Amino acid sequence: MAKLSIRDVDVKGKRVLVRVDFNVPLEGGQVADNTRIRAALPTIRYLVDQGAKVILMSHLGRPKGKVQEDLRLTPVARELERLLGQPVHKVDDCIGPEVERAVAALQPGEVLLLENLRFHPEEEKNDPEFARKLASLGDIYVNDAFGTAHRAHASTAGIAQYLPAVAGFLMEKEIDILSRILSQPERPFAAVLGGAKVSDKIGVIRNLLEKVDRLLLGGGMANTFLLAQGFALGNSLVEEDKLPLAKELLEQARDRGVEVFLPLDLVVAPEIKEEAPRKVVSVEEGVPEGWMALDIGPRTAQKYGEIIRQCRTVLWNGPMGVFEVPAISEGTRAVAQALAEVTGVTVV
Ligand code: 3PG
Repeated sequence: MAKLSIRDVDVKGKRVLVRVDFNVPLEGGQVADNTRIRAALPTIRYLVDQGAKVILMSHLGRPKGKVQEDLRLTPVARELERLLGQPVHKVDDCIGPEVERAVAALQPGEVLLLENLRFHPEEEKNDPEFARKLASLGDIYVNDAFGTAHRAHASTAGIAQYLPAVAGFLMEKEIDILSRILSQPERPFAAVLGGAKVSDKIGVIRNLLEKVDRLLLGGGMANTFLLAQGFALGNSLVEEDKLPLAKELLEQARDRGVEVFLPLDLVVAPEIKEEAPRKVVSVEEGVPEGWMALDIGPRTAQKYGEIIRQCRTVLWNGPMGVFEVPAISEGTRAVAQALAEVTGVTVV
């Protein structure tokens, strides 16, 4: 990897400030899924073993710059403690005198978790003064928050202006694998893109169009592409202002010989509810007025599954529909199933 990692710096006895992504689901005040915490363990264990003073920071949910009691990181500290098999100190803020005292008291090999960074509005604004205050807590900054790497916030981007910055093992692993598949993919190489908005993915689409053989679009973002092709979308989520861009991206794909696949049919409903009436329409038929496209339809799911299974490299980003509602999760499930059957490299 062309980036420095924690192996490249001497961390012994140093205050090492690690940005992790502990944005985990909570249920009844407990961590409901500890995958992201487990993903950060190799970095934390390494730093502990090297005798660093480990200071962890993360966001949790979207408290919009205010303290929200149910979004404190205390349950995460308890879960981390259990997984690490050693005490994890926890403070109720991420800057200020209480935090400074806790950091000063930290011994080599000990772990401290700061409070939810997003209780301060300055975090998401990438406020330089807030970044500087966070930076003052450490001697070295480690970014291991791969799941948050797309956000230019104070704890991910701003802070790197003030401290020597290196990648943790999770970040290193993810970058290594992504670099490998993007530079020397086994072909055919397909990208499956979904999620709500085209605007969130413009950079990703442009970049991938240079590399992939096939591009499969689903989710809310496909609506804008369908509208650009003249299909009726009813009340579906569309980004009217992105229609010219959608057309331009389709042209760019054609120029590059990338095959682009858009939904052939859609699961539509008048509202996003498990019990709402729903039906499948072809894109030619269109989404009825007052109804919304909420998932790719069965014909599309089957077609996408066939294409995915033929590929040797598949990169998937974003669901095919509102998968949080079981009744409209089938398209996303079908794509996941097909990816599981690929005999090659898949990155989700
Ligand atoms: C995630 O879960 O996608 C990351 O932790 C980033 O969270 P965010 O979308 O609230 O910025």
